[in-house]
Amino acid sequence: MAITHPSFGTLDDDRIIIFDTTLRDGEQSPGFSMNIEEKLRMAEALADLGVDVMEAGFPIASPGDFESVQTIARRFAKDGPVVCGLSRTAPADILSAAEAIKPAARKRIHTFVSTSPLHMKVKLRLEPEQVLELVTGSVTLARQHTDDVEWSAEDGTRTEPDFLCRCVEAAIKAGATTINIPDTVGYAVPEDMIRIFTMLRERVPGADTVIFSAHNHNDLGLAVANTLAAIRAGVRQIESTINGIGERAGNASLEEVVMALRTRHDAIPVRNNITTPKILKTSKLLATITGFDVQPNKAIVGRNAFAHESGIHQDGVLKDASTYEIMTPESVGWTTNSLVLGKHSGRAAFRDKLKALGYGDIGDNQLNDAFRRFKDLADRKKVVYDEDVAALVDDEVVRGND
Ligand code: KIV
Ligand code: ZN
Repeated sequence: MAITHPSFGTLDDDRIIIFDTTLRDGEQSPGFSMNIEEKLRMAEALADLGVDVMEAGFPIASPGDFESVQTIARRFAKDGPVVCGLSRTAPADILSAAEAIKPAARKRIHTFVSTSPLHMKVKLRLEPEQVLELVTGSVTLARQHTDDVEWSAEDGTRTEPDFLCRCVEAAIKAGATTINIPDTVGYAVPEDMIRIFTMLRERVPGADTVIFSAHNHNDLGLAVANTLAAIRAGVRQIESTINGIGERAGNASLEEVVMALRTRHDAIPVRNNITTPKILKTSKLLATITGFDVQPNKAIVGRNAFAHESGIHQDGVLKDASTYEIMTPESVGWTTNSLVLGKHSGRAAFRDKLKALGYGDIGDNQLNDAFRRFKDLADRKKVVYDEDVAALVDDEVVRGND
């Protein structure tokens, strides 16, 4: 059934809202903090990428965080993504978030409280009934400042099911329009996502009037898989970060979730507003700003994501890239794939490289000699660069002429 949402109007059943938290949860990764100017640059890139909601920060956390959220809200005063500020349940938190996001054309307060037995007892030192009161109070207050309110059950995936249903019901009654169940500690497996979201959608009164959201951490490397499972269980907002940055092992990576949805539309037929060819430049901007590159084998945006080294793969890719590529490099912003020369590379890739370097007319004997010498070199070096190949062939040509 289509839902009418205060910020998005009527949403088709297959529409996924992309909530980006690079500037909030992402920034909580040790060493990844950004100054206001950097956050604004990143916010503009995220808007250009097409995210629907941008969690710009946690305004009560520091004067700098307040100012960055407010600056971003001012930047999107006329149009742009929904600008969201995080808050705990305390009125001062909520009022700070409300004030910071005020200038934005579309704004959201995201308020959360822990609901798991462990967090309630050890962290909050509160009884479940007291937590329920906080849910109602915080959402009610947030609703006085914006009609777009998200409520999150921190440590939701380790929360006792009946109590989770009661909290979600209280949040909906108080006016929450998005219900987020974070896997705060990255403990869940995909089956948990199906179980929890199916239960909430079936059991909680009013569940059909709100958007359910998944927010998965990556402690077991399952954040993306869990997010996809959540979508299959009816979740229509996913929370993620560029390059998967975030607390500890990070959050679900936006680029991985979006490209999984695009590549496997047959299995999960939903759609979103991300302009995928802008993914790589957004990823690189974040890496430049934070000073942290992604690992070479990172899906989608890693240097090796579209690089082929083995002869068998290179030969296949030269014949038809789809033999070893499930999406095109251009679809995520790379200009091309790359055939990296190394000890596993074959003659086809070597010849192709020679052509690209302007040695297309080299004779067969010289090619064979150069290829043999290239293999010797590749045994000694991890990667053979273009200049190494050029040197090999130049040397071969000189020898051939002697
Ligand atoms: O992981 C988490 O529980 C969070 C909440 C604040 C939404 O980031
Ligand atoms: Zn989180």
